Formats: sequence, C-alpha cells, structure tokens
Amino acid sequence: TIELKTLLGSTGMTTLDPGFGNTASCSSKITYIDGAAGILRYRGYSIEDLAVGSTFLEVAYLVIYGELPEPGQLKEFSEKLRENADIPAEMGAFLDAMPRNGHPMALLASAVNTLAAYYEDSVDPSDEAQVELATIRLMAKLPTIAARIYRNSIGEQPIAPDDSLGYVENFIRMTFGDNAADGELGDLFGKAVDLLLILHADHELNCSTATVRTVGSSQADIYASVAAGINALSGPSHGGANQAVLEMLDEIRDSGVGIEEFLERVKAREVRLMGFGHRVYKNFDPRSKEIKGLASQILDRDENPDELFTLALKLEAAALADSYFTERKLYPNVDFYTGVIYRTMGFPTNMFTVLFAIGRLPGWVAHYREQLHDPAFRIARPRQHYIGSEERRYPGLS
Ligand code: ACO
Repeated sequence: TIELKTLLGSTGMTTLDPGFGNTASCSSKITYIDGAAGILRYRGYSIEDLAVGSTFLEVAYLVIYGELPEPGQLKEFSEKLRENADIPAEMGAFLDAMPRNGHPMALLASAVNTLAAYYEDSVDPSDEAQVELATIRLMAKLPTIAARIYRNSIGEQPIAPDDSLGYVENFIRMTFGDNAADGELGDLFGKAVDLLLILHADHELNCSTATVRTVGSSQADIYASVAAGINALSGPSHGGANQAVLEMLDEIRDSGVGIEEFLERVKAREVRLMGFGHRVYKNFDPRSKEIKGLASQILDRDENPDELFTLALKLEAAALADSYFTERKLYPNVDFYTGVIYRTMGFPTNMFTVLFAIGRLPGWVAHYREQLHDPAFRIARPRQHYIGSEERRYPGLS
C-alpha cells in the first residue's frame, strides 16, 4: 500500500499521491469502471453487451460522440473515414525513410505528430469544426499509417486503402495484402480484431489517456496530444505489456524453466508476471474474460492447441492458485491473452501495441474533446513534495 500524505505548503494543502492512485483530475461522462466488481461500461453500456452487439466503428462513434449512431449517422461516419484514409505522399515518403527495423510504436508516434504539420487547418482546439476534422483524420489515417509501417518493416510495397472495404477489413488488407487469411478463417480473424479494438476503445484515466489530457490541457493540438498518448502507451507497464507477455511466454518455453520456478522468480521480485495486475481492477478484468473466450475460439480450432496459449492457460491457473497473487488481487488483465491471438493472425510481436493504439484512439479523442468543454478545464499542473536540500551557500561567493 502506498501512503497518502496531506502536506501543508506555502500555497495551502497539497496531497502527495504517487502515481495519482487516489486522485481524480477531472469529471468525465465517457467510461465507468468498478474495479472491485469487474465492471466496465462505455457511456453507460456494458462492455459485454457492446462486445456481442456492436462493431468497432459503432463503439468508436459512441465513445467519441456520446450516443450509439443511428444507421444514417454510422454510414456518414464510415464514409468520412473512407474518404480520409489516404495519407499525403510526403508522409508516405517520410515513413519509408524511417528505420525499417525501428519499433513501430516509435514510428507511429512520430508519424501522428507530423499530422499537425500536414494539416494546419485542424490544429486549433478552440474551433470545434477543426477538432472534428482532426478527429476524422486521426481515425481514418491511423490504420493506414500502421499498415505502412508494418509493410516497410518486411520490405514490402505499401497497399493503398480500398474504399469498398470496412474499417477493420481494410486495415487487415493493407497489412497482409494477398497473404491475409480468407474464407471462414478470414472472417474469424476480422471479427476477432474488431472485438479486440472494441475492448480497448477506452479505459478512463489510464496512463496514455491521462497523458493526452495533460498535453491537451496546455491547448496543444489534438495530433500532438494523441502522439504523446501513443508514446505513453508504448511502455511495458501499459500497452507495451501485450508484447512483453508474448516475450515472457517465449522465454519460459525456450529456456525450459518450469512454471512453478518462473513464479518463484516473480515472487522474489526478479521479474513481473506480465499481463497480470491492474491499478483499478482488483478482481478479474472484464476485458480479459472476453479475450480468453476469443483466444479459445481461435486457438482451439483444431486438434493441435496452440503451444503458447496452452502455456498461458497453465501460467494463469498456477498464479491464481498461489496466495502471493490472490492476496495482492493480481488477476490477468487485458493484455494477458491478446498477444497469443495476434501472433496466430500473423502480426509480429512488435506490432501488438500498435493494434492497441488503433483500438484506444476513440478514447483518446473523446477525452481530448470532453476536456475542451469542461467548465473546470485548466492546465494540468500537479504539485510536488520537495525533499531536497535546504538553502545552501554557493561556494563561489564569500
Ligand atoms: N507481477 C508480480 N507482482 C506484481 C505485479 C505483477 N504483474 N503487479 C503488481 N505486483 C505486486 C507488486 O509487487 C506489489 O506487491 P507489494 O505490495 O508486496 O509490494 C503489489 O502487487 C502492488 O503493485 P503496484 O506496482 O503497487 O501496482 P500498481 O497499481 O502501481 O501497478 C501495474 C499496476 C503497472 C499494471 C502492475 O500490476 C504491473 O506492472 N503489471 C504488469 C504489467 C502489465 O501487465 N501492464 C498492463 C496493465 S493493463 C494496461 O495498461 C493495458
């Protein structure tokens, strides 16, 4: 447990709350989480209902605009995204010139940052029409940029967006081209990506969303704020955990270390059990239940269950049978099973967090926009608890 201290400073009372575990920095109508009960709702709708009944585009609309779209609104939203899916030729050249083996999250954040330079007509946060235009451009172009980064990394020509395809279908085609799974398997993979994006669409004030709000609070434009969110997401304690889980599973398998032995290393604090634990959920993460079901559907299709999925199931069972984890309320989070699914679909490990970013974009955008209309909106500026030296005499002065 981390101690919450109240300090009296020259400007009044200050609360010392490391990692803001108990501090709300804003009021929000977007996402409700009850961490003890394992409840997650977007705009009042439960994640379980949205997972069954909606598509990612509907959920993105809901998260950004506050209501589920009427059919006409969804059509219009989807058309605007199709019309804006291309990226400027100069931006393509910029992406092609970046290190091909560089981490896709670094390239993605850099590319999104440059959108402000390509589209100077949509950088004014005080102009609602500009913010709306930037929202559409971000939603439309992020999958195109992500797919191009992937194609560059494997030395293949980019594939232009196809405006006859849906959002997720188009992303899969721009990524894998003719190598994309087709038929029944293609449909299953398409539905799986759609569901994973829904489950990632928002999660209130997580590290990356808090970053988007913080950067936006200085009146920085939405492109700069989202680029900052992508950078925050990249760390292994946050979105980068989906990559870290797969690396952990690979390491356990390849090193021949037994599960019990690995968990002893975790308990000795040599390593963390990646994909476990959450600041807010002290019970099962409702998203992880959905994802585990999806993983079973995809990975148990034939008689040869996926080796890493089997390992992940055993690791989860062993951790949940161990009081070290249950006493600390450590349960699998959203990232525990996503990696095994993405790998089966053919995504390389370092693209996993990019998929998370595509899913989280509606949430980032919604929070940026909500903040602009908040009557209590002001620049984010936390205080600190100074523990350095008292005033000292500078040695050069006598
Ligand atoms: N493995 C082992 N022990 C853990 C883990 C873990 N994954 N997570 C927390 N703990 C332990 C800590 O050592 C601590 O134990 P102690 O009280 O004996 O010192 C206790 O549980 C509380 O941990 P904190 O670090 O205080 O929890 P916090 O809320 O700050 O961190 C976090 C949350 C970052 C998610 C953490 O659980 C973690 O590092 N998990 C692994 C990385 C991960 O999966 N991140 C994805 C999170 S979900 C998302 O962002 C999409």
